[in-house]
Amino acid sequence: MRPVFTSTTATAVLQAVALASAQAITWDEAREKASADLAALTQDEKIGMVSGVTWEGGPCVGNTYAPESIAYPSLCLQDGPLSLRYANPVTVFPAGINAGATWDRELIRARGAAMGEQAKGLGINVQLGPALGPLGKIPTGGRNWEGFSSDPYLMGVAAAQTIEGMQESGVQACAKHYILNEQEHNRETISSNPDDRTVHELYLWPFYDTVKANVASVMCSYNKIDGTWTCENDEVLNTLLKGQLGFPGYVVSDWNAQHSTVDSANNGLDMTMPGSDFNDPPGSVYWGDNLAAAIQDGSVPQERLDDMVTRILSSWYFVGQDQDYPAVAFSSWDGGAATVNVTTPEHGDVARAVARDSIVLLKNSNQSLPLGAPASLAIIGSDAIVNPDGANACVDRGCNTGTLAQGWGSGTAEFPYLVDPLSAIQEQLAGGSTEIVTSTTDDASAGAEAAASAETAIVFITADAGEGYITVEDNAGDRNNLDPWHDGNALVQAVAQTGTPTIVVVHSVGPIILETILAEPNVVAIVWAGIPGQESGHGLTDVLFGDTSPSGKLPYTIGKSEEDYGITWTQDLVDDFPEGLFIDYRYFDQNEIAPRYEFGFGLSYTTFNYSGIKVSVTAESGPTVGEIVVGGPEDLFESVGTVSASVGNSGTVSGAEVAQLYIGYPESAPSTPPKQLRGFQKLNLEPGESAQAEFDLARRDISYWDADSQEWVVPSGEFQVYVGSSSRDIRLTGSFTI
Ligand code: BGC
Repeated sequence: MRPVFTSTTATAVLQAVALASAQAITWDEAREKASADLAALTQDEKIGMVSGVTWEGGPCVGNTYAPESIAYPSLCLQDGPLSLRYANPVTVFPAGINAGATWDRELIRARGAAMGEQAKGLGINVQLGPALGPLGKIPTGGRNWEGFSSDPYLMGVAAAQTIEGMQESGVQACAKHYILNEQEHNRETISSNPDDRTVHELYLWPFYDTVKANVASVMCSYNKIDGTWTCENDEVLNTLLKGQLGFPGYVVSDWNAQHSTVDSANNGLDMTMPGSDFNDPPGSVYWGDNLAAAIQDGSVPQERLDDMVTRILSSWYFVGQDQDYPAVAFSSWDGGAATVNVTTPEHGDVARAVARDSIVLLKNSNQSLPLGAPASLAIIGSDAIVNPDGANACVDRGCNTGTLAQGWGSGTAEFPYLVDPLSAIQEQLAGGSTEIVTSTTDDASAGAEAAASAETAIVFITADAGEGYITVEDNAGDRNNLDPWHDGNALVQAVAQTGTPTIVVVHSVGPIILETILAEPNVVAIVWAGIPGQESGHGLTDVLFGDTSPSGKLPYTIGKSEEDYGITWTQDLVDDFPEGLFIDYRYFDQNEIAPRYEFGFGLSYTTFNYSGIKVSVTAESGPTVGEIVVGGPEDLFESVGTVSASVGNSGTVSGAEVAQLYIGYPESAPSTPPKQLRGFQKLNLEPGESAQAEFDLARRDISYWDADSQEWVVPSGEFQVYVGSSSRDIRLTGSFTI
């Protein structure tokens, strides 16, 4: 077996990016340059730099007006979080949820760096990603897959790594969607009204990490918060983002998420996209001349416009786009053919490594996997092959036909190619003696017929979701339920009931309920492959045939029923977030509900043992009162100590283990989830090899948000320390007292 993860590709991509990185200046220096430019700009030019040129008014999905007085372009803003939309060729990377499932900081960063290199090569100034909202409190939420996890800690780490990778490549990242846009139904009218503690400890948490990672821009979301549109919400934009988090960059509206001229300007919006509004009345232009008039009559202060422009220019300087940045090399509206080829074999390798290392092995009875060379293998399900009409047959991937490798909506891109599972399996077995039989529809009796005479069957099933402007098979963005699509349960049942040992491969945007499938005794293995992008099939065969041990871990909980999550999307126009802090595993733990596969779970072809926990944490209890710097109070990220443990590979093949640290708070912290992820480390280990997992704890990791004092507070008392292989497979415990 080859080593589980050859990090050479990821390392090579990162080294190349670091060498090429133009980013050598601080925010203060960037702001100085921006302020100098400000003096040279006319009022019209300033207004043009904060206003979009309207939808389809320029080559990118968002474009601003270029000033003449300074050397600054029409800014090009382009989706999205997993690749570059409406451009080709580009590399279609695995979705955010797969990147999260790798729990591999270096690989996540390499994915960001590779995306950023392509963006820069195409002349894109701002890549509209990563997505860290929705957080995914609703398991059926349509856009959860664009982000990394429904745990804020994992989300924050993955988003920060992605941003640093992207921006080292030279593109400005855009952290979206800020904030509390958890469902697609009524996304432009719903008001999210959570309590302040929930906001800080769950939804704002990953935004701290992204601001700390120096993200250049933040996109305000469609929804209202406490009755006020997010993009004109003083509390959300000024008090939280620019105040408590010390964000020095600019806030750009989601497309048509602006609803006013004066309030949006005064309450913290810095750039409007796409420049005109589809809503009320259609074609409304809130800024442009209207902003000029509002400044003229004093309802918006001149300083506010100057601040918007300074912020926008600061971000541009900060990532070094003043130095030889390429011109836009494609148009979104004519098929997107680029005049340069920005894809490289290394980028494809990174895509394959993420596809492979995000695979979560959920079940593996009697070591059914890895597969050797069976005499015959049945490949079953429409998800085994590319859509016969082509991988890009549906606009923004708005159909679920053929193998599922992205969700749908603005966060998608055109596949340059898509390696489907069947082709990769054929490639893997070429020249051998295995007979491959296929049934590449979801017809249960045809599937059973193919399986009946085979030694082993692999059934492919899916569950899709996306953005609410497209409805697919009656799912208006958010999923209608957590079941497999196309009657996947019946397909698996029919195949398994032939008596042939059956392996189920799941391509899904999030959790699906597996109870019907698990009730079949002949289902010997279940493999979650997520939505793995263009290298889907290769990533899968790398694991199925044992070139690599599976090493992904679930970035969310798989329950036994949808009801077990205690939450679904609402048709109401108000969501008070009554669940508070108790989402995903926090809810299962609090209510003592047994999940089917818990958060952080994933099997390997080898086994790992844990020993020798060491806990060394000291901190002063009480509030965190440091000066606000970029990312929040300066002491919030101060180290308070470490937890370490030895992890050994006790099996016979190489593998990688994601060691996880969870912390339980003392009782003096009011009603806190029983345990919360506060550290993880992925270790590649040869058989017999051991290594130390080292978890650094920051002050934030042992704090809660005290809404009364408006401060992060370290509670006093005994904290519980849990180190393990998942949120429920705790191998070592300890404690510390503050
Ligand atoms: C989405 C954003 C996207 C924008 C531009 C909106 O519908 O919510 O995520 O970046 O469109 O395409």
